[in-house]
Amino acid sequence: MTPAPRILVLDSGVGGLSILEALKQGLSGCEFVYASDNAAFPYGLKSQAYLVERVEAVLKRLIKEVEPDIIVVACNTASTVVLPSIRDHFKAPVVGVVPAIKPAVALSRTGVIGLLGTPGTVNREYTQALIKEFANDCEIVKVGSSRLVEIAEQALRGSSPDKRELEEILAPLFAADKLDTVVLACTHFPLIVQALKDASPRTVNWIDSGEAIARRVESLIAQNSFHPKPINPNPVNQALPNKTFAPALSTKAIFTKASDEVNSLRGALLKFGCDNIAFCEDIALFEGLK
Ligand code: DGL
Repeated sequence: MTPAPRILVLDSGVGGLSILEALKQGLSGCEFVYASDNAAFPYGLKSQAYLVERVEAVLKRLIKEVEPDIIVVACNTASTVVLPSIRDHFKAPVVGVVPAIKPAVALSRTGVIGLLGTPGTVNREYTQALIKEFANDCEIVKVGSSRLVEIAEQALRGSSPDKRELEEILAPLFAADKLDTVVLACTHFPLIVQALKDASPRTVNWIDSGEAIARRVESLIAQNSFHPKPINPNPVNQALPNKTFAPALSTKAIFTKASDEVNSLRGALLKFGCDNIAFCEDIALFEGLK
């Protein structure tokens, strides 16, 4: 049996759990470590220079701790700015999560597509380049919302999103009559997709990047040979019948700041298989750079 590859999944907050879930659905027998840079949350309101420094520093520290075979930056806000520079710094392959514009274009019949992300992501040059490459003939309606990130964070801590507030956030998308597809360009948003659907005036396609990332990681696993890892004795998931890897293992969740906000997440983390919480607080915050 192939030894379990260890995959580090990083986001600013809980959003990356939507990617962790897709990875667990698509790949069995991998060892996952989830990391939330909650000390620097939210990334959506930070400058590009800050994010480049911060994500690199956080990854350097986590790599020492975790020794991952593959790193997934499960955050559109970070990936759309830090990928080129961080890829040069690390031996482990780095997979970024970026807006699923190409699949949205394939699915849309009207060519009118919504892009719902953080203000940072929807305004990035990287995102603009994706639009130019894959959606040049489409109308892209952009909505950048940091509030929606906050709503998703609170939803995982047990507070139901307010339907009226969601309707207001979504209104600019549905003002475009022909819009038939919305790209969830923030990993937090798939966590509240049902609430978003319930607050929408009509049925549209909602696309996220989860499955594509799982396929990408699967192909990296197939291309690389990974070293054996000590196997955690507490498997939390059963192996899928047709896969060759060992059963998925108990997932560790690492936070960069200990706080009550983390305590209130314990129930949600367990639902995603994160049954072991740890802290890694010794990373510089670059306050001056914000
Ligand atoms: N989950 C992150 C993303 O995919 C954004 C959250 C934040 O603003 O920190 O963009």
